[in-house]
Amino acid sequence: MDKLPGFRDFFPSPIPKKDQWEFDARAYLFNTWRKTLASYGFKEYDGPPVESLELFTKKSGDEIVGQLYNFEDKGGRAVALRPEMTPTLARMVAGNERQYKKPMKWFSIPQLFRYERKQKGRLREHFQLNADIIGEASVAADAELIALLIDVLKAVGLTADDFVIRLSSRDAWQTFFRERAQEGSDEYTFFQIIDKLERTPPEVAREKLSPLGISLEEVQSFIQEGTPTDELSIILSNLQARGLGEFVKIDYGIIRGLAYYTGVVFEAFDKQGEFRAIAGGGRYNKLIHLISDGKTDLPALGFGMGDVVLVELLRSRGLIPEWPSAVDVFCLIEDESLRPQTLGLIQSLRERGIRTDYSLVPQKASKQFRQATDGKIPYVLNIRKPDEVNAELEVTLKRLSDRSEQTLSIADCPKTISNLLSLSLIHI
Ligand code: HAM
Repeated sequence: MDKLPGFRDFFPSPIPKKDQWEFDARAYLFNTWRKTLASYGFKEYDGPPVESLELFTKKSGDEIVGQLYNFEDKGGRAVALRPEMTPTLARMVAGNERQYKKPMKWFSIPQLFRYERKQKGRLREHFQLNADIIGEASVAADAELIALLIDVLKAVGLTADDFVIRLSSRDAWQTFFRERAQEGSDEYTFFQIIDKLERTPPEVAREKLSPLGISLEEVQSFIQEGTPTDELSIILSNLQARGLGEFVKIDYGIIRGLAYYTGVVFEAFDKQGEFRAIAGGGRYNKLIHLISDGKTDLPALGFGMGDVVLVELLRSRGLIPEWPSAVDVFCLIEDESLRPQTLGLIQSLRERGIRTDYSLVPQKASKQFRQATDGKIPYVLNIRKPDEVNAELEVTLKRLSDRSEQTLSIADCPKTISNLLSLSLIHI
């Protein structure tokens, strides 16, 4: 039986086929994300993968609602797999924010589900780093969040030659719309036209804009001029002060598809334009108020970064690292009569946190040794009976990188290996 279209298996490396997904790459990404988020003082949270359908139909907008995996559960409730994390976060915050000092800086790495049509960079499940700041209205928070987004991408080896953050503002578009639109026109309909403008033929865009009383030329020249709002100018200077100015540009071609954004919005793209958006986010100052039915009112902003496009981009730039061995020591059993003593030693090595492997069944020593070399395991040991009768058993410890050897007592073995490993910083 095959997996469903748009879903992935994650295999331990080496992956069986070229187009498959590697668990190690995912673990590498998650570790790097966690490290960078910690450096900005963010705390991790999670929520349920299934929520009431209403949470997502309330304010995400038609695009996401059309992609929902929803069903009725056995208790007759209308539920959905989460297509994004922001509504769950807003729900969690609305009920508990009094317990937390503001601003709350939270992150999560949920698996999300969207019934998308098949296309490059878009699957029916993905993992998405979500970083959000809640309870701070100052534009300093927007700058901090964008700096974080840049640093997350830098941490996986990408540079200003690889990606750019396209920075925009729904406020700017709102002013544009209010000054020009025919009375009674719907603002969100206009935002959706702008969101899809780059993928829409000009004659179709013109047709869609005309009932709103807006011409395509007005829209195009507004994007081309790209005059930053006061807020955007502050963000640019803030990022320049950090030495991150080269990673951002004002681009009103971005407006974001989701309905709940209210102010500054942005998306990260690869510079060569080969891939879909790497990440996207912005301010959503009204969402918590809406989801809490008016009980809580907190400004908020955040971004989401998926694993699919990012891994594709890293692969294409040769930036997926080589994985170090998952095992530190291989215990070779040459003399089966010493298996009990070897098992005792293996137990004490593992209790010290040393990652240890061995052959479960009797095997030729040469085959066992090959298992160690094929797995790039740095150390191999075996217990030996010494030449002198009645003398204590001893351990030969070999370092495979230079084939150097030392002889140890069984008792000294765990400590010596621990020291060697911490010296060579084998553990990641
Ligand atoms: P979004 O733009 O829908 O935003 O998704 C953010 C990122 O998730 C995209 O840029 C893309 O990398 C990835 N992504 C989205 N859909 C898929 C898919 N079907 N397959 C693979 N990757 C995908 C949001 O979800 C907002 N809730 C982000 C946010 C957090 N805004 C504020 N806080």
